Amino acid sequence: MELRELRDKHGISEDVIKILAERGIEKLHPPQAEAIRKGVLEGESLILAIPTAAGKTLVAELAMLKSIFEEGGMCLYVVPLRALASEKYEDFKEKYESMGIDVGIATGDYDVGASDLSKRDILIATSEKVDSLLRHEAKWLADMTTVTVFDEIHLIDDAGRGPTLEVLAARLRQLNPDMQVLGLSATIRNSEEIADWMDARHLKSDWRPVPLKEGVYCNGNIIFGDLSEKEIKYSANDDVTKISSDTIENEDGQALVFVSTRRSTQAAARKASKEIGDLLSKEEENRLEEVAQEVESALGETTETCRKLGRYVRRGVAFHHAGLHHDQRSAVEDAFRKNLIKVICATPTLAAGVSLPSKRSIIRDYKRYSPPYGMEPIPILEYKQMAGRAGRPEYDDYGEAVLIADRERERDELLDKYVMAEPERIESKLQSEPAIRTHVLGSIAAGFVNSFESMLEFIDRTFFAYQFSADRVSSVVEKVLDFLTEEEMVSDEGRWLSATKFGKRISQLYIDPLSGVKIRDGLKNAESRNPSELGYLHMICSTPDMDTLYLRKGEDSEYDLLVSDYAGAERLLNDPPDARRNPERYEYYLAEIKTAKMLQSWIDEQSEDKIHESYGVGAGDIRRKVSTAEWLIYSGYELAKLFKVKGAIGSLRKLRQRVRYGIKEELLDLASLKGVGRVRARSLYQAGYEDKNDLREADLERLNKISHIGKSTAKKIKKQVEA
Ligand SMILES: Nc1ncnc2c1ncn2[C@@H]1O[C@H](COP(=O)(O)OP(=O)(O)OP(=O)(O)O)[C@@H](O)[C@H]1O
Ligand SMILES: [Mg+2]
Repeated sequence: MELRELRDKHGISEDVIKILAERGIEKLHPPQAEAIRKGVLEGESLILAIPTAAGKTLVAELAMLKSIFEEGGMCLYVVPLRALASEKYEDFKEKYESMGIDVGIATGDYDVGASDLSKRDILIATSEKVDSLLRHEAKWLADMTTVTVFDEIHLIDDAGRGPTLEVLAARLRQLNPDMQVLGLSATIRNSEEIADWMDARHLKSDWRPVPLKEGVYCNGNIIFGDLSEKEIKYSANDDVTKISSDTIENEDGQALVFVSTRRSTQAAARKASKEIGDLLSKEEENRLEEVAQEVESALGETTETCRKLGRYVRRGVAFHHAGLHHDQRSAVEDAFRKNLIKVICATPTLAAGVSLPSKRSIIRDYKRYSPPYGMEPIPILEYKQMAGRAGRPEYDDYGEAVLIADRERERDELLDKYVMAEPERIESKLQSEPAIRTHVLGSIAAGFVNSFESMLEFIDRTFFAYQFSADRVSSVVEKVLDFLTEEEMVSDEGRWLSATKFGKRISQLYIDPLSGVKIRDGLKNAESRNPSELGYLHMICSTPDMDTLYLRKGEDSEYDLLVSDYAGAERLLNDPPDARRNPERYEYYLAEIKTAKMLQSWIDEQSEDKIHESYGVGAGDIRRKVSTAEWLIYSGYELAKLFKVKGAIGSLRKLRQRVRYGIKEELLDLASLKGVGRVRARSLYQAGYEDKNDLREADLERLNKISHIGKSTAKKIKKQVEA
């Protein structure tokens, strides 16, 4: 379909068409045209299930623009990940702000309302954020919304995030039945069911703008799904190095390699770097040197992992996993986009929605360790998402996805089970008790539900009820309501259900009600005990919102000793279970203690290398745990105020700041400066600058010379303290 037709028949303005043309969009892709014919510009709801890179976003953009211009509508664009939210935000702003369209983003802090968000034409937000806005009684959100887009809606199937997405979709539609809904999905077997559930039209297609050939490598040859073959001529010691070197030498491309563990990403990168380094030009080597230095210094201190990454990057290869710092991951992605890094060895997290110029996706591991079963084959949908990272239209005109098999029998099996297969049916995960607990309290606290019957009525609108039956959830709901009443978050006085102050606060803090109970009980003990720092840290690590670390061999006796010391002296707030009668529960308790100890090492300013060595966590993990901890400590602080636990209020306020920066108390003032982290704050302190006042009088030249500071930071510091 020509864009002209959009203007002539569907009322899309000339300005929009110009903006799209400037970006090389001159015609609609066939599935996009089909979506228009299905009425998305006339307000029809639609589930659009088309392959990766087929241009789902543009369909949503057109529907939103139409609604904004014709009805002054307000649109909501819901994404699963923060990274995706920023990508869309930047993109929409760049394209449409000049036309007077106000684009907003909301991903952060869950404990704030939405004062100025209501003025946006397009609001991009994660599903958790929208859910939390609704809990702050931002009902305008549902009232005013004309179009809601759910990007990656197949993630309803995700055990972690799926339930929130599903409940949110059901809630928004209940509050505003006239709203147009667009669900953007990967191709899955039962997208039609989602459409039926949403009362939406359905469009499914296999069309892809650039061909993606999927195949299996075995003994020097790739066999593709269409039974064509390709010989890999390059020779190397291992298959991954061989196929990725071939991609660079013979295909003029870059490769993404997917393996199942973080450790394997590093091992695969090490092996590949030996060969790939020899294929680089002098200029590439020079530019990679800069990238290497960037990843080495990203943390303020250079850890063993940083050094390794730097070493491989100099040879054109990187590893990429959630243990790396966010800045290192983006530096790696950037250098890959610039065709400097030639090969990235990654865990499957890299497969979620990002666009990278890889000609080949090499999926080395199709099995993954999943306790208690052992090694299990991954779902087809996950394979397809990894495969779909190759051959992006922005970069390449075709792409290949390659699985690796050792034997012919395995090859044939992989062709059958992955390459030729259609992704599985997705299923609602709403049955999980923590999810139901959170959403039942959320619904009551926000005033959406005021009786058992109205709760069930709402449950009946979910995808879970559509797929299974509401009866299967109702017994869980009953159990959860008992729990919430017992713990005094919900009151059922008089026939009506309502949230108590405690329940309301928990719902707005957006934590699991069970976490609220753990924290409340810990705080009650704080009144009569003399809790240590570790006591408070353990209190938040005992909540289900904190992912605890695993115990390694022999560690249980180490932490066991610690528990006897601390618990005996009443310096912990949540008491240990009986180790003999309940050994399993006790193991968990020790793991919570270990996690709390890790956070304590962090605020005692232990180096990241040391933390890595002692607890087996990398920079990325530390930061994720730290940010969860910070939020839970804040929640503890809020509850301490609510329950008037005076002694805890001050301790928690300070602890929150220390955890945030990873510092001892004496550095609090210095660390609040921008560009000064834990390492630099310590350097300044050691050089005799103990707070902002000292820095105000400091000489720029002398600041410069302090280790870890340097010219630009010194200037930044001066500017802030003098302002
Ligand atoms: N009609 C078109 N003509 C040319 N380019 C297009 C067209 N429609 C979309 N594109 C471009 O194609 C690229 C991929 O689009 P998009 O990100 O919407 O893919 P997607 O379907 O959401 O894929 P994924 O499932 O990977 O998220 C974008 O760079 C987009 O600008
Ligand atoms: Mg997309």
